[in-house]
Amino acid sequence: MAYIQIPDDEKGYKLDLFCVPKHYEEDLDQVIIPHGLIMDRTERLARDIVRDMGGHHIVVLCVLKGGYTFFADLLEYIKALNQNSDKSVPLTVDFIRLKSYCNDQSTNIVKVIGGDELSTLTGKNVLIVEDIVETGRTMETLLSLLSECNPKMVKVVSLLVKRTPRSSGYRPDYIGFEVPDWFLVGYALDYNEYFRDLSHICILNENAKEKYKV
Ligand code: IMP
Ligand code: MG
Repeated sequence: MAYIQIPDDEKGYKLDLFCVPKHYEEDLDQVIIPHGLIMDRTERLARDIVRDMGGHHIVVLCVLKGGYTFFADLLEYIKALNQNSDKSVPLTVDFIRLKSYCNDQSTNIVKVIGGDELSTLTGKNVLIVEDIVETGRTMETLLSLLSECNPKMVKVVSLLVKRTPRSSGYRPDYIGFEVPDWFLVGYALDYNEYFRDLSHICILNENAKEKYKV
């Protein structure tokens, strides 16, 4: 499946070319993926998903918290397609909350903290919506939990996939962008809960990592 590759030598855009909240100006280096580009890519992912899953009822499962902005925007595009084409997919939504990160490090433990009983997904076509895949452990854990409930089909869409030697090799079915091994924030991607209220995807600087450390 095709995706946009952001190269390791990507320079991005200077912050002052875009609108960034005042309270984060000191914390960010460059804008790497402007909000408009995220939206354009999401629109196309929606089209690919409807093409492949069209005709079947799908449960769109949002992985909280990081996935919520992408989930909401992706759903809007899928709804627009449903309203304007011959082929359409009935949608229902569900949420699960997972946590595996502390500061800028993925921990080995993936915790499920909330959401409906996964057993409601038995026999359903499930589209998992995630913000970013790094080691792949979060998604592999969720997929193995889900498989115990025997869904009919499971597909995964992730806005970002990180190019990293820490990857387990796991790849989602749909990918928005492949990004270098950087710690990214914005568009709901957080650092200890900060930066979800930033529209663009940006690189966090070293000072900010200290400032918001827990
Ligand atoms: P994985 O289990 O290593 O694949 O990590 C996936 C989870 O870690 C994602 O769902 C994010 O919540 C978090 N994560 C990984 N990389 C980043 C990043 O660059 N910025 C913010 N969160 C990240
Ligand atoms: Mg996440």
